[in-house]
Amino acid sequence: MDVKEAIRGRRTVKRYAARPIHSSTLEALLELAVWAPNHRMTEPWSFRVLGPEAKRFYGETLGRLRARKVDDPAVAETLRRRSIENALATPATLAFLQRLDPDPGIREEDYAAIYMGIQNLLLGATADGLVAQVKTGPVLEDPAFRAALDVSDGERVVALVHLGEALETPSPRPRTPAVERTHWLA
Ligand SMILES: Cc1cc2nc3c(=O)[nH]c(=O)nc-3n(C[C@H](O)[C@H](O)[C@H](O)COP(=O)(O)O)c2cc1C
Repeated sequence: MDVKEAIRGRRTVKRYAARPIHSSTLEALLELAVWAPNHRMTEPWSFRVLGPEAKRFYGETLGRLRARKVDDPAVAETLRRRSIENALATPATLAFLQRLDPDPGIREEDYAAIYMGIQNLLLGATADGLVAQVKTGPVLEDPAFRAALDVSDGERVVALVHLGEALETPSPRPRTPAVERTHWLA
């Protein structure tokens, strides 16, 4: 697949076919991530590939965080159960970690480099016929979840990426043409 086709064809998808992704596919996609542009070549990233136990813990954590926001115990229980089911049904869940440099300027550049790595992985996944969802939110900072992912004090979980084969492909979410946001300067 041409890279431009992958850029336009990439879609965020949240539900996946019940087909696993081979570990060699995940390894190859993570190899694309490390080819991100990286000022000073700090290589600030590391990755976690969640196995069944870690996925369950992820689902439990999401469920706990979601359930906190509702008063009805039955609704809270449904949220907890669904979160676990969804986490276990996601064929692959990857965590992108950033090693936190003491210099705030470098930290910001490192964060940007990690997102460029995530985009590399997403485009590679698109070329492999996979779809994905980037996940952020309070779960990334949850102390128990961080411990389960073996994240140290000097690291941050930048994002989780869910990957799988699409059950159905959603329509693209329209974008404002760049021309409307572009000013050519003299
Ligand atoms: C930094 C970042 C965080 C995101 N976090 C979430 C998230 O927590 N949950 C989610 O459903 N999508 C998340 N997304 C995906 C966006 O919602 C998605 O890219 C957007 O709706 C456009 O759809 P598309 O990717 O199919 O073009 C995130 C994307 C980025 C770049």
